[in-house]
Amino acid sequence: MSSFFLRKNRTIKTEHLPDHIAFIMDGNGRWARRRGLPRSVGHREGSYTLRRIAKECSKIGIKYLSVFALSTENWSRPKEEINGLLDLLREFVKSADKEIAENNIRIRFAMSKDRLPEDILQEIDRLVEKTKNIEGMQLIIALNYGGKDEILNAAKGIARDVAAKKIREEDIDQDLFRNYLYLPDVPDPDLIIRPSGEKRISNFYLWQAAYSEFWYSDVLWPDFNKKHLYKALEDYKRRERRYGGIK
Ligand code: FPP
Repeated sequence: MSSFFLRKNRTIKTEHLPDHIAFIMDGNGRWARRRGLPRSVGHREGSYTLRRIAKECSKIGIKYLSVFALSTENWSRPKEEINGLLDLLREFVKSADKEIAENNIRIRFAMSKDRLPEDILQEIDRLVEKTKNIEGMQLIIALNYGGKDEILNAAKGIARDVAAKKIREEDIDQDLFRNYLYLPDVPDPDLIIRPSGEKRISNFYLWQAAYSEFWYSDVLWPDFNKKHLYKALEDYKRRERRYGGIK
């Protein structure tokens, strides 16, 4: 049975690791404010944390890693902050294939294309295409993403296909519904981690989080490191998942 070393002679068996971890990368703004820096610096630091944590997750054998990078609600932030986030994203998608894909990571996006600039969409297509045959961990970037929008979008797709007689109303079940989500083949997250002391789902993965385990921490995302990750994994290992049943 394979296992990996955690700390102080403690190990976790690979079979006790979550297949899919999702992060709400929260606390960038507060990290910057505490240092008297612009919020954009916090987001940039957050993007470095994302790179470090993605490599670490890939190294220990996590199969899917999702990160909430921009929500459908974030567009209400000041234009300057949004532009800063879009610039960071541009930088990330242009350079990710070198740094991330070299670490055997495939990159995918859970997103609505509405409002995203054309040049970013093109870079995203290029990156997704370029990494599509990588068999290692999948890094899923939830971008311009909202759980409610994703569900509405699926409902509209189903309504269209019923009207076009491609499917029948009686065929609609959870498996069929999943096929209309952004990334139907990605399994639901086993563990959702939210740093920064907030304890909300914030419109992330509403369908997919039905039976996810949650782990919270007061640490701000730019300060999140592999020790915090390991602590979450140790906690997760002890959780008893019943999916509504009994033991
Ligand atoms: C929430 O923190 C974070 C965001 C709205 C953006 C997260 C984006 C990144 C970490 C950039 C990296 C992503 C890519 C793909 C390049 P907040 O700003 O709401 O923090 P606060 O609650 O402390 O104000």
